[in-house]
Formats: sequence, C-alpha cells, structure tokens
Amino acid sequence: MLSPQWLDELRARITLSTVIGRHVRLQKAGREFKACCPFHDEKTPSFTINDAKGFYHCFGCGAHGDAIRWMTDQRGLAFMDAVKELAVEAGMEVPAPDPQSARRAEERAGLQDVTAAAQEWFVANLGGSEGTAARGYLARRGFSAATIREFGFGYAPEGRQALGRALARFEEPLLVEAGMRISVEERDPYDRFRDRLMLPIQDARGRVIAFGGRILDAESNPKAPKYLNSPDTPLFDKGRTLYNLHRAAPAARQSGRMIVVEGYMDVIALAEAGIGEAVAPMGTALTEQQLELLWRHVERPILCFDGDAAGRRAAMRAIERALPLLRPSHSLAIVQLPSGLDPDDLLRQEGRQALETLLQGAGSLLDTLWQVEHEATPLASPEDKAGFKQRLLDHTETIADPDIRALYRRELTERFSAFAFPKREWTPRAPWKKGGPPRPAPAPTLTPEAAARLRHIISGGGRDSLAAAVIAGLARFPDQIVRHEEGLSDLAMRDQNVGPAIDLLLEAAEALDLPGGSPISPIQGLPAPPETSRFAFLDEGTDPDDAREELAEAVSLLVERPALEAALADATARFESDPEGAFAEQQRLLRRKLEFEARLGQMASKRASRARQESDSRSADTADAAHKTD
Ligand code: UTP
Ligand code: MN
Repeated sequence: MLSPQWLDELRARITLSTVIGRHVRLQKAGREFKACCPFHDEKTPSFTINDAKGFYHCFGCGAHGDAIRWMTDQRGLAFMDAVKELAVEAGMEVPAPDPQSARRAEERAGLQDVTAAAQEWFVANLGGSEGTAARGYLARRGFSAATIREFGFGYAPEGRQALGRALARFEEPLLVEAGMRISVEERDPYDRFRDRLMLPIQDARGRVIAFGGRILDAESNPKAPKYLNSPDTPLFDKGRTLYNLHRAAPAARQSGRMIVVEGYMDVIALAEAGIGEAVAPMGTALTEQQLELLWRHVERPILCFDGDAAGRRAAMRAIERALPLLRPSHSLAIVQLPSGLDPDDLLRQEGRQALETLLQGAGSLLDTLWQVEHEATPLASPEDKAGFKQRLLDHTETIADPDIRALYRRELTERFSAFAFPKREWTPRAPWKKGGPPRPAPAPTLTPEAAARLRHIISGGGRDSLAAAVIAGLARFPDQIVRHEEGLSDLAMRDQNVGPAIDLLLEAAEALDLPGGSPISPIQGLPAPPETSRFAFLDEGTDPDDAREELAEAVSLLVERPALEAALADATARFESDPEGAFAEQQRLLRRKLEFEARLGQMASKRASRARQESDSRSADTADAAHKTD
C-alpha cells in the first residue's frame, strides 16, 4: 500500500500546471493559472490551477482534484498507473508491496487449493453410491439437473475421517485452517461436515471459499442444526460475503435489480425460476460491508423478509444498519412476504408471477420505517403518539448524510402531523355553504421589537434575498407558518441570522391556535423586500394557491441550505486526512449546490416569464385599444 506521506511527497514534487499544461492551453492569472475547462464545454475560462495547493478547480462544473485525479479523470488511467507515471516524473520509486501481504496472499492460495479439492470430492460423492439419499432429497425438492450442477451441490459422507482420508495430500493444519476439519485438544481432528448435502460458497470471482451443509433428514435429527457453515477463515469472512454474488452481479447488470433473500435455498429456487439476480447473507443480519457490496451493483437492492414478527424484526435490523450509511441515490427497497412463506415456498405455491408482483410493489425504506414503527405499539393516547414520533426522529438522527437526514425529518414529521393532527372539517377548496368563504382570522400580532427585527431582515434582503423573501412571504401568508413549523424551527436553531426572526413568527402564529390551513390575514406594516428579490409568491398578481406552493419550495430551499453548507465545509476540512474521499464528497456536494441554485434560478425565471406575459398582454390590450380608435 502507498502511505499518505509518500503520496504527499509525490504531489509536492509535481508541478500541477506543467502536467495539465501538456493538454490544455493555460493563461497565467496572478498566482494561479486559468483555462477553459477540459471537463465541460465552455467559452470563457472558469478552470483554475493552483500550483501551491496542488489542486485544480472548475467554478463552472465543479471538477476538482490533484495531479493523480487529473491523470485518472482526464487521462483515463487507473489509480496505480497514474501514480507510476507521476512517480517517474517526480523521480520517485513506487514502494514495493510489503512482504507480509505477499505472504498472506500465498497462504490464501494454499487454503484455496483445499476448498477447491473438497468441492470436487463432495460433487463426486453426490454422484456416487454414497450420494443416493442426497440425490433423493434434491429430487424431492424438485431441483433440475442443470441447477444442481450450476450451484455445485455435493455430499459430505458419514464418518469422522472420510474427508481427512480423501484429502490426505494436504497437511492437517491446512485442512483445519480451511475450516474443513475440527481440531480440539487431546483428540484426533475430525471432519466438520458429515452426512450433509453440501453447497459451495464462492467469492466474487467464483472461487470456492467455504461451504454450507444442510442436514438431509431434519425430522429425525431435531437437535442438529439444519445448516452448518464453515467458520470464518483467512478465505472466508461471513460478514463480507454474499452467497451467489458472482452469478447475481452480471444478472443484475442485465435486469437492473438485485434481490436479497434470507436463505441459500431461496437463492437457488429463484434462479431455477429464472431470476438470477438474488443473493443471501450467511444466516446472519445484513452487515454494513454487505450493504456496501450491494450498492456497488445497484442503487436500490430489494430485501425480502418473511411477513411475520421475526421477519419484521429482521427488516428493522436491516433498516437500522442502512440508515447511517445512506448516501444520495442509494437506498433499499423492502418486500414483506406473506407470513410464514419464504421466497422458495412462495414460488412453489404461487409461481413466479406472484413473486414478481411482490417485488414490483416493494416499499421504500422510509415507508417501511414508518409502517413498522406504526405497528410496533398501540397509538391511542397522546403519549403513545408522541412516543411514535420520538422513535421516528431517533431513527432519523442516525442518518449521517445531512441532506438525507433533513429530508427524512421533514417527510416523517409531515406524515406524523397528518396522522396526529388530521385536518379539521373545513378545507379552503370545499364548496361554501352559506355566507361565502370564511373570513380570514386576524393577523397574528407582533410586538414592536418583533416587527423591527423582521423589518431589518426583509430590508437587508440584498445580502440574503432568499431569507428576506421567505420572511416576507410568511408575513403575507401566515397560515403557512404552521404548515412549515418543523422545517422552520429546525432552521431557527441552525441559522443565527434569520433564527430569531423565524422564532418570532412561529411564536406569533402559535398564539392564534388555528387548525393548520385556516386563512389568516397578512401581517401588515412590514416593508416589501428590495426589487432584487424575484419571487412570484410576493407578487400581488400570483394566484394565492400557486404562491403558497412556491413559498413552500422557497422555505424548503432555505431550510436545506445550512445543511448543505455545513456538509461542504465538513468535506473541505477532511481534505488533509482523506483526500480521495473528500474530493468525491465535495464534488457531489458542489453538484447538489448547483442543483440548489438551479432551483432558485427556476423560481426566478418563472416570475420573469409571468411578468413578461403580463406586459405582453397589456401591450396587446393597448394595441387593441389603439386599433379601435382608428
Ligand atoms: P432457513 O431456516 O430459512 O432455511 O434459514 P431455508 O433457506 O428456508 O432452507 P430450507 O428451505 O429449509 O432448506 C435461512 C438461512 O439461515 C442460515 C442459512 O444460511 C440458511 O440459508 N441457517 C439456518 C443457518 O446457518 N443454520 C441453521 O441451522 C439454519
Ligand atoms: Mn426454505
């Protein structure tokens, strides 16, 4: 492995502008260089190179990196090739791989020979005279000859020394280390798998690294475990292995999905039914490493669980594992099977279509989280309901990604509000009975200090036009303060500038104590934000419902902003310790920021086009009028 110190030395000895200058025409600009960005199409240069820092950065597309990154991203080299090429230029020697890791690789190769030989022997046994009962079992389960061959079923015969004798060409300690034999003090070593149907467990490259062995006759051996697996060995790390991944990965590239089931036999039953993209953990809850492994292949693996209480617990464990690891575009989908049926049973009883239908209806992570917690306890009293909300928020807090955390919090609290505070009778769009629409409630009263503070933020709008516009918008539609209460109080805690003003609005609205959505008169006596703010919800001419929706969009942008900025600062701070990870993270966040600004821009252009339409129709009117006077 290359040490961080070595990589730093390499970066220090390379002049980045020289490396980049071979491919891009550079202009000197003060202490930096500028160029038209090679990563996106542009006419004016927004790509900068800072030799002192050793980084390039594009203000247009967010491309960012050091010399190594340049070689991998722009030149298309593999990481090690990039390092080697730069090392030549820097006059440095790439350190040789350390002897310890070379020895470990050799050791693994030795163990690999054992497991491969054992697999061959198990398969031969299944076909031989000793394999009759095992063949009968497979026939009863209805597996085809092709499936039996493809999945490498075998048979471990009875007797404590059968494998030991068959693989006598390997030394005993190697057989023990490979997990094939068990050695306890003061007794002769003996075979681990005896009288079992054998299934090879393969690594991502298809090499046999371990085994699972199923008992043939579970009824007459109620005490023996149904499945016995190899122990962890230098070859086999249970928590980092997914059964069938080497076949499922290419199948997943075809179908775009990956299915996770609980048992080996389920994987095989799915394959037999024509669904090749299924994997299973090794009889344990899904680990973090297994989740990461799944996410390398698909963004949203589908987890299948039994619909009973144990299955729901298993689903919840998987969700709890996944929440801290969520990152943009990566999630899980969850299928709850009919109670008491595993996928194998379901296929047998109802056929492939039934399973496909369930897979298509897979619930999102958030939906399942809501549902499982909703069903966890009765929700009759206010205390129960508050407990439910608390559990939802506790889960949310475990999400590490700030954007996803904020979005989960918002979605779950909105759902919770709709559940715990259902809308009262009156809805604004309902046809009114007598006396026309209900008269809006009087505006919330502001203390003179509160009014002064709000005025200050609104008229200081040049500095933070989004915040100024949102405050002015909420003053115009006070009913919306309650609607966005969660997000706003969150923002009030994070943002020291607008926080106090938001708190004042929340307080004032709370004092009215109306059911959410009741119309409330605008708060009067506040200034209009400066012309620079370009939000349609401040426009008298905008339809009030449209204005409320646009205001909602602006509020959510305002609420998201500090989270995004904190994450960016965080990624920047990590540059020293984890340059590779920090680049990736920063690039992603910069992209998010661009999206964010694009959304803001869209709101502005909507406003502008509406203004244009209005003036067009007005000038059409005047033209019309002029025509008539002719
Ligand atoms: P199941 O008990 O659901 O088995 O265990 P299954 O897949 O339905 O198998 P059949 O249909 O009875 O043959 C699911 C997984 O849990 C692990 C195995 O990995 C199995 O595939 N397991 C189960 C064990 O490791 N040991 C056991 O004793 C039982
Ligand atoms: Mn089963």
